Amino acid sequence: MNKIIDIEVSKSYKVHLGHENYKDIVQYVDGGKKVFIITDENLEKLHLKELTTILDKEDINYFKFVLKPGEDSKSLEVVERIMNAMAAQKMSRSDIVIAFGGGVVGDIAGFCASIYQRGVEYIQIPTTLLAAVDSSVGGKTAVNLKSGKNLVGSFKQPLAVLCNLDTFKTLSKEEFNNGVYECIKYGILFEREYFNIFLQEDFDVNSNRLLEVVERAIEFKAKVVIEDEFDFGMRRLLNLGHTFGHGIEQASNYKIKHGFAVGLGMEIVSKISRSLNEITEEELEEILAVMKKYRNIKLPTISSQDILSYVLVDKKIYDGVINMIIPKSIGECEIKEVELDKLKELYYLGTNNS
Ligand SMILES: NC(=O)c1ccc[n+]([C@@H]2O[C@H](COP(=O)([O-])OP(=O)(O)OC[C@H]3O[C@@H](n4cnc5c(N)ncnc54)[C@H](O)[C@@H]3O)[C@@H](O)[C@H]2O)c1
Repeated sequence: MNKIIDIEVSKSYKVHLGHENYKDIVQYVDGGKKVFIITDENLEKLHLKELTTILDKEDINYFKFVLKPGEDSKSLEVVERIMNAMAAQKMSRSDIVIAFGGGVVGDIAGFCASIYQRGVEYIQIPTTLLAAVDSSVGGKTAVNLKSGKNLVGSFKQPLAVLCNLDTFKTLSKEEFNNGVYECIKYGILFEREYFNIFLQEDFDVNSNRLLEVVERAIEFKAKVVIEDEFDFGMRRLLNLGHTFGHGIEQASNYKIKHGFAVGLGMEIVSKISRSLNEITEEELEEILAVMKKYRNIKLPTISSQDILSYVLVDKKIYDGVINMIIPKSIGECEIKEVELDKLKELYYLGTNNS
């Protein structure tokens, strides 16, 4: 069964979700438009043909730019190479970029689309669970600087999002679970019942609830984005686990993937919440149990100092204050302003370190 979810923001668009739905692309790229596909080497081998077969059949003129897989591709140097390739293909403002891949491809392709000739349309085709439930919807684009993650970026909503759940079948268990953490995040933020799916079931790519889980996740995200597209208020809730998560991700030199790092960050803020007497001991145990359940990786050792050195230069620090998202219960969180001096103390509370 296929679904369409409407995202009504400054520019409204549809998320096409289900199976064998790449043919839906035709309605967006007809009329002689050129298509510039940005993807990575893994996707080129595994899934790109499914899309290009449709484009070929419709006589749509396309070019492709293939990235090396991984976070290192999210750089300004790669942005420049993409821009030059787009210019070489004489892409104009009425042409279209397609981001075909995970969050790395989506972030850099969206950023390129937002600045090339002051902005061209782009379509997100997420191929990882994480990209489907998080990065492909909401219009945040970014690349990294040496000094920090996602420090350069823009808001640019896509023209449409097309998600074929069958592509997840080729994800490793680690990559799939990386996305599961973002789903669990929505449960802790918004709904106990949704959280329970991950606690009570062994949720994996073959689950008959996959469509439902992804659909609900996109709806949770859409609701927040619709209310606060430019991230001045409620959207900040989506940063649950991110303050420490981004620090962990960077201090591990991206060996710990985004979703797992956010999972570890959620663990820390849940422990902080418990020590502030917000969530109950039982809720903390449930959160820790669900976090452990999907962590099928060996964590590298990272020092607290390294993590904190990144946390303390987080781009969300304003006037020495950071907004930290703290669970009040499973299904409800609050945004707390924390002074930087206090952040270190809280981190140690949340890691039981001193
Ligand atoms: N813009 C946003 O709102 C937002 C939100 C969350 C995360 N992000 C960003 O997303 C990125 C992480 O995204 P990700 O986890 O998708 O990582 P990714 O894009 O690096 O993909 C992970 C790996 O899986 C491979 N892959 C992708 N699809 C596959 C498939 N179907 N089968 C087999 N292999 C496949 C990729 O080639 C890559 O090696 C981070 O850079 C993060 O900052 C952005």
